[in-house]
Amino acid sequence: MLTCQRDLFDLPRDRAYLNAAFMGPLPASVVAAGQAGVAAKARPWEVKIDAFFDPVDKARSLYAGLTGADAEGIAVVPSASYGIAVAAANLTLERGQRILVLEEQFPSNLYPWRKKAAREGGEMLTIARRADGNWTRAVLEQLDNRVGIVALPQAHWSDGCLLDLERIGAACRSSGAALVIDGTQSFGAMPFDTAKVDPDFAVAATYKWMLGPYSMGFLYVAPRHRDGQPLEEGWICREGSRDFSRLVDYTDVMDTGARRFDVGERSNFALMPMAIAAMELMSAWTPTAISAYGEHLTDRIVTETEVLGCTAPVKGIRSPHLLGLRLPEGVAVGPLAARLGEAKVSLSVRGSRLRVSPHVYNDDEDVDRLIEVLSDALKGG
Ligand SMILES: Cc1ncc(COP(=O)(O)O)c(C=O)c1O
Repeated sequence: MLTCQRDLFDLPRDRAYLNAAFMGPLPASVVAAGQAGVAAKARPWEVKIDAFFDPVDKARSLYAGLTGADAEGIAVVPSASYGIAVAAANLTLERGQRILVLEEQFPSNLYPWRKKAAREGGEMLTIARRADGNWTRAVLEQLDNRVGIVALPQAHWSDGCLLDLERIGAACRSSGAALVIDGTQSFGAMPFDTAKVDPDFAVAATYKWMLGPYSMGFLYVAPRHRDGQPLEEGWICREGSRDFSRLVDYTDVMDTGARRFDVGERSNFALMPMAIAAMELMSAWTPTAISAYGEHLTDRIVTETEVLGCTAPVKGIRSPHLLGLRLPEGVAVGPLAARLGEAKVSLSVRGSRLRVSPHVYNDDEDVDRLIEVLSDALKGG
């Protein structure tokens, strides 16, 4: 079992930061890597050509290791939105076919599909939330050969409920639908096995659970799409681009794997070292141990808030790390959230739920503080 990693972060002891789903705090080593990267840009005569390539490939490998993918299939993107845009540009949709999404899905994984459906004569199919939070069942019930694209998360960003993507992936393969995953709210924090799920595209931004920088993410591209159309006509992702003296020997031959999909200036000298430092830590901890650690805390929160009248989805349906807690009937979420804020308990309000999202820097003391405030507020204190 992983122990609390709070010492690696700059977190005040009187702050219960239970909000990784909003933004992960940077570990000190990630801050240092970013600072060194910024400083290096002040001395460009020391920047080697290799620095445009080698760290990027190291990041691909680390990310692939965390998500059970092959490093060749990983592209560098600046956001989840960018990754979904690549997917939308490369998947075909027949007229009348459906694009399946969840009710209240995060907008990065919705707007590109709405536009694609409107442009290409398709239709959106929004899966309604079941009372028991079982998204897997809800998706499988609607997944038939009228569906062309299935665009999902692994854990719903507002209620924290899980999707069994291995089962959904198998169902997509047998019905002929493409599968696109936004893993921003779970990759790193719990296991995701790309090889087993076999998505067409899967993206995650690094600034939440990966404890990395803002404005960076990674996109997995399945082998069947690696000769696809990038959003940009990049130059650094072409054959021979390591030789800067010959860049005007123009070529249409792209670099191998998913590199053609890399965003321009993907070598980002400040953010890339941060992403690497963060993923080195995440890899040492492992997503399996991180999720077990988070689950110990979320289980405790569920048990101790049940007696206060709060409700949560059952184990197995709720995710280990991201908990959407429903307050008792009639309790307004806004004032309660304000009270939590005053007590230095950080979490998010999403819809009518309190979203609690612990990571490796949280401990029982943080949970004690949360329970104490909820207990005072809900017992009328
Ligand atoms: C599920 C999910 N995807 C993506 C993002 C971020 O999207 P982007 O990188 O496009 O800004 C968020 C942010 O809250 C999110 O919750």
